[in-house]
Amino acid sequence: MKQNGGVMSFAGSTALVTGASKGIGAAYARELASRGADVVLVARSADTLERLAEELRSAHGVRVEVIAADLSDRDGPCQVDDELRRRGIEVDLLVNNAGAGSIGPFFERPFDAQLANVDLNITGLVTLTHRLGARMRERGGGGIINLSSTAAFQPLAYQAVYAATKAFVLSFSEALAEELAGTGVRVMAAHPGAVATGFLDGTTAKISHAADSPATIAARTLDDFARGRHASYPGSWFYRVQTWAGRVLPRRRAAALGAVLNRKLGFDHVSDVEPAR
Ligand SMILES: NC(=O)c1ccc[n+]([C@@H]2O[C@H](COP(=O)([O-])OP(=O)(O)OC[C@H]3O[C@@H](n4cnc5c(N)ncnc54)[C@H](OP(=O)(O)O)[C@@H]3O)[C@@H](O)[C@H]2O)c1
Repeated sequence: MKQNGGVMSFAGSTALVTGASKGIGAAYARELASRGADVVLVARSADTLERLAEELRSAHGVRVEVIAADLSDRDGPCQVDDELRRRGIEVDLLVNNAGAGSIGPFFERPFDAQLANVDLNITGLVTLTHRLGARMRERGGGGIINLSSTAAFQPLAYQAVYAATKAFVLSFSEALAEELAGTGVRVMAAHPGAVATGFLDGTTAKISHAADSPATIAARTLDDFARGRHASYPGSWFYRVQTWAGRVLPRRRAAALGAVLNRKLGFDHVSDVEPAR
């Protein structure tokens, strides 16, 4: 990634986006390709990724590679890295976007799904960062953007596991950014509020009507990274304001407030629904 008057340019670099088949990840892939980056698309849905790859190649003339992998599986991130080496691809920018979160009371939602969220949001992210980040450090340059959330800043009842995984991503990203200072490798966490994606599909929970668009979130995150920011709040201003409560209130009060807000959203009464056909 080249510097251009203090602002980084993505043109000519290679970016790997996880969770690129839909939602915010697909928006990152589109935005990066439109800014001239070659892109590696990673998710489980190979056919959807191939369709997006074709769209990006013909719209922007960039190189687009597809690697289908389950990142909640311990071997998934390693398979991605092995495939990158086999194809001779060096990644300049890793966008750890893939993530999932169960909504509803902890003891009333399927446990395996919640554990898979931990595997994806934490173990998958840490493993890919370790594998790809090590080579960036050796080369003396590169970038890592980790998708956290405004959910990272306080405990959230009825999203207990999800919010805790995002708090991990926040803490991990900030610590790693310090460790890597001066190496040429930058780490930035991004904290969107609600975004209009299929994140809650398959449940009775609904994304807020005030949700931002994935395209806006992607463009603002990349602008923040290009300007050298350590954190990105790419959503509407009121989502950033919501993160202040967790910083100024005693933790018990912040947790109680989170529970009240999530009850207002009906997250204490979530069940599964048949997927739309
Ligand atoms: N939407 C929001 O309101 C919101 C707010 C703040 C932060 N975020 C964060 O933003 C990120 C993207 O969320 P989103 O709303 O775009 O979600 P989404 O629409 O549900 O998309 C999730 C993406 O992750 C991929 N994925 C899911 N499980 C995977 C697995 N086991 N292995 C590999 N890929 C997997 C999915 O593709 P496949 O199904 O094809 O694998 C899909 O491409 C997440 O980290 C989320 O926590 C979202």
